[in-house]
Amino acid sequence: MNGAGTHTLFTNLTAATMADGAVPYGLIEDAAIAVKDGYVCWVGPRCDAPASCDAATHVDLAGRLVTPGLIDCHTHIVHGGDRAVEFEMRLKGASYENIARAGGGIVSTVKATRSASAERLLSDALRRVDVLIAEGVTCIEIKSGYGLDTETELRMLRVARAIAVNRPIRVKTAFLGAHATPAEYADRDDDYIDNVCIPTLRAAHAEGLVDAVDGFCEGIAFQPAQIARVFDAARALNLPVKLHAEQLSNIGGAKLAAQYGALSADHIEHLDETGVMAMKNAGTTAVILPGAFYTLRETQAPPIDLLRKHGVPMALATDNNPGSSPLHSLLLGLNMGCTLFGITPEETLRGVTQNAARALGLADAGVLVAGMRADMAVWDITHPAELSYRIGFNPLHSRIFGGTP
Ligand code: NIG
Ligand code: FE
Repeated sequence: MNGAGTHTLFTNLTAATMADGAVPYGLIEDAAIAVKDGYVCWVGPRCDAPASCDAATHVDLAGRLVTPGLIDCHTHIVHGGDRAVEFEMRLKGASYENIARAGGGIVSTVKATRSASAERLLSDALRRVDVLIAEGVTCIEIKSGYGLDTETELRMLRVARAIAVNRPIRVKTAFLGAHATPAEYADRDDDYIDNVCIPTLRAAHAEGLVDAVDGFCEGIAFQPAQIARVFDAARALNLPVKLHAEQLSNIGGAKLAAQYGALSADHIEHLDETGVMAMKNAGTTAVILPGAFYTLRETQAPPIDLLRKHGVPMALATDNNPGSSPLHSLLLGLNMGCTLFGITPEETLRGVTQNAARALGLADAGVLVAGMRADMAVWDITHPAELSYRIGFNPLHSRIFGGTP
């Protein structure tokens, strides 16, 4: 670990700082990055490095590219079982919605998650988290939502917290009790929300397990009025909200999320301009999830041009989950964002750094400037667009977490 007073100067590198400004990627050639006590204290051209940096331990990065550590701001990485059989069914013509209505989908992962021990959930999740860490990810968001009863929702969230204890990665949690109605509450959605979901949220919050509150607002999930009750409970606990919105249809989820000042609205393939403007006014980030679009072979892409036109920040994430997005590579997600949606490589990289931090409400990550946590990824590439351009290739050289390589 980085002890008190540790001072390191990284040199011989190109920094893609992702800081705002006229320079693409916030790029600085022949840069130096000074790190003290786990935080960045100076970034700039090496020739301008302040004299105080002389006292530091020098690390020569041999001309490599350095970016902020990547942030996967939307995952369901803690879950039991898999849904490979549903993948086969969809290839034979069944739809995601039909499988869900027939008792498969999310509810089938709920069965597998309820029957899995915390130890098993943790060891399975760590295997997936390790793949992200190997791609330079230094922060990940993890949702509950495959328990749908108090005991299992709490177990999922405790496992999510345990990941940050077992690995050098930061974890933010989201309570997703409003993900689906469990079988024992079939046709009693309101009952489930009021008597299970909201009390469980309060219990999870009391245990310090909740960083944000999420929901699934969709025809096959919950209606805006039901989500609003969950959001009211979140507000009373002073917790920020976010929402799975407009993924398969438009029932006004993003607008509702914006009314509650949501951190983000996620998926948003079916979002319209009114919803985009509501997000803009509320400062809500759009989280683009190409893995789910690809897996479900959707045809309606998110309204990227409208998001650009109104200046809504775009983040991008894996949505790692066993049903709609068994995507384990954030780098592949970058490529998909470009190829499927026409997002630029700079936008995708901003989507997993600066804007992903925004989607999680993090003020100390996502850009390489003084004052930020020293979470960085060092790449064996010369231009940042290479991160989006290659398919199935991982150019990570090393990862620096809290200043420690
Ligand atoms: O983000 N859209 C809702 N929730 C997940 C899918 C969950 C599942 O199919 O298991 C998502 O895509
Ligand atoms: Fe999701």
